[in-house]
This record gives sequence, structure tokens and C-alpha cells, in this order.
Amino acid sequence: MSARKIAIVPGDGIGPEIMEATISVLERTGFNAEWIRLEAGAESLEKGKPAMPEETVKAIGEIGTALKGPTTTPIGKGHVSANVTLRKALELFANVRPAVTMPGVKGYFSNANIDIIIVRENTEDLYAGIEYQAHPDVAQAIKVITRPGCARLCKYAFEMVKEQGRKKLTAVHKANIMKLTDGMFLEEFYKAAKDYPDIEAEDIIVDNCCMQLVTRPERFDVLVTENLYGDIVSDLCAGLVGGLGLAPGANIGEKCAVFEAVHGSAPDIAGKGIANPAALMFSAIMMLHHVGEHQLAEKLHTAILAVMKEGKNVTRDLGGTATTKDFADAVVAAAS
Ligand SMILES: NC(=O)c1ccc[n+]([C@@H]2O[C@H](COP(=O)([O-])OP(=O)(O)OC[C@H]3O[C@@H](n4cnc5c(N)ncnc54)[C@H](O)[C@@H]3O)[C@@H](O)[C@H]2O)c1
Repeated sequence: MSARKIAIVPGDGIGPEIMEATISVLERTGFNAEWIRLEAGAESLEKGKPAMPEETVKAIGEIGTALKGPTTTPIGKGHVSANVTLRKALELFANVRPAVTMPGVKGYFSNANIDIIIVRENTEDLYAGIEYQAHPDVAQAIKVITRPGCARLCKYAFEMVKEQGRKKLTAVHKANIMKLTDGMFLEEFYKAAKDYPDIEAEDIIVDNCCMQLVTRPERFDVLVTENLYGDIVSDLCAGLVGGLGLAPGANIGEKCAVFEAVHGSAPDIAGKGIANPAALMFSAIMMLHHVGEHQLAEKLHTAILAVMKEGKNVTRDLGGTATTKDFADAVVAAAS
């Protein structure tokens, strides 16, 4: 069989390190891919290009499947986020972020049985980036929510619940305050729910949702929400199951999909070879399922869980001393 074309965008910070580890695991466990390496983040900026160059966006659009590392976005100044640009340009409207209890992870929630998927809207909301200085002492931002955007996201989330044989979809919102924007999201959620009578549809206000996530996380199955709430709630969920080093994600559009970890470029540990590559590896597993390589996906998933359960080769964020490469080697050994 000919090699499958996959775009890879290492990004910056810990991106290149975890990407190298992930690609090496995929190759050594038998994934036959032709990797098309594309630029974004610091390396593009250094060449005077935008953080998400047009040629990278175009190539991902043409190839259809990409594995991406994180890219740094300056706080309070500087360039627009490379991710926001990419998600908008390719209409990657749904960001799917699973949070699942893992073996061997010690933390406040080790004994919980968490298995939550967050489906976050990925192109609208305050991330439209419309901000302006109304007055020297007043800055304003516009929250953009569209009816087609809400309808498309809710339909996607219900379909995912159905396909995965899950039971419940919870819409997370703040429609008590944001009556028009979040009100529209909620309206479209219940409209979509009518086509899925076997799925329990409920809604919850985002603050109450956060409280219940840390008191009764098992009560949640799949969450669907707007961009900003989804960004925050999915990091919260990552924290429940062992931190950002374990949280994968997929940006899904009609024509292409970009797989990347929830975490950022982690500048505090970049270049040290100690980042946990598991989140990107779990994202790669989502990618394998997406392209129909289910067997390899299952094999890698089982191997990663075995390494985590054994605990000898886990990285520092999980209490171990292994390097990024040690973890990758252990996964390959467990898969063979
Ligand atoms: N997808 C993306 O490209 C993306 C996502 C989120 C943040 N960012 C950007 O990343 C930069 C840093 O953001 P931040 O510090 O708020 O969040 P971060 O996710 O980079 O790091 C938060 C904390 O988690 C740790 N961490 C993250 N990933 C880890 C891993 N794989 N292994 C071990 N520890 C890990 C970091 O060391 C840090 O202590 C910012 O510029 C932000 O805009 C990018």
C-alpha cells in the first residue's frame, strides 16, 4: 500500500521535541506515512513570515490531515494566534478533547472514573478577535455567535455521541447572562436534540458545570460548548485526569482535520527533552482512527497505557524521571 500523506507542523517550544518522539513511535510501530513538514510559529516569524503562513494553511487544506505541535502566542500584544488563524481559515469548526482517567496517574482524582469528551466550537465567540479601544480607559470585545455555527457544532456533537454509543450530551453555556448569543446556542442545541431522541440532552450553566466537574465528574459524558468556555473547561478536565501532558485534541472541519494536544508550547520546559509526549501521541491515535487505521490506533493506545501503568518510564509531570525519548522508546517496546 502506498504511504499516506500527512502534514506535520512541529510548532515551537516543546513542539519539535514531542513531534519527533511521536513520529518516531508511529514509524517504528508500522504507520506508513509520507510526512509533509510545514512551518508555523517561531520558525516562521524568524523568517519574517506570519505565525501561520498562508502556504502552511493551503498545504494542510490540500493534504487533509495534519498533526500539529503547539505554537507560542504573546500575551497582551504581538501577533494573532497561529491556531486561531488556522482554525478559521480551514473552518475547523469542532475541537474534540477527550479527558479519560489513566492508569498509574496519582492525583486528587485518581480514584474517579472520568470519561468525558468536550466538543468545543472552534471558530467563533470572543476568538473572532474583534477588540477595540472605545475610550482610553475602555476596551471592548465582540462575541460572535452565529446560528449556522451553533447548528453545525451541535449536529456534529450529537452524531459523535451516537457513533460512539454514548448516552448523554450536555450543553454548557451562560445564557442567563448572554441571552442573545448563548441563548441562540441553546436554542440550536435543543433543535438538534429533536433528531436524536435516544440521546439524553441537558444543559448547564458554565460556572455550575465547573463546580460539578470537580465534585461529581462521573456525571458527565459529552459536553458541547462555545469556544471560550470550551477552552477553559477542557483544561479543567485535563487537570482532572493528570494534567496537560495527557490531554489530546482534534480540530475537525468538513474537508480536513488537524490533530494536536490541548497544551501549549510550555516555554518553561522547552529544549530540555523532558516534556510529556503522551498528549500528542494520544492526538496521533485520534488521527489514526480518523484515517481508518483502527488496529494500529488500538495497539498504540494499549502500549501507552501499559507504560503509564508500569510507571517506570513516565515523565516528570507524572512524577517520573524519564525523558521524552525514554517514554517514546518504552511505548515502542510495549507495542512490539
Ligand atoms: N495549541 C496551541 O498551539 C496552544 C495551546 C495553548 C497555549 N498555547 C500557547 O503556549 C504558550 C504557553 O502557554 P501556557 O504556559 O499558558 O500553557 P502550556 O500548556 O504551554 O503550559 C502550562 C503548564 O503545563 C506544563 N505542560 C504543558 N504541556 C506539557 C507537556 N507536554 N509535558 C509536561 N508539562 C507540560 C507546562 O510546563 C506549564 O507548566 C502561550 O504562548 C500560549 O498562547 C498554544
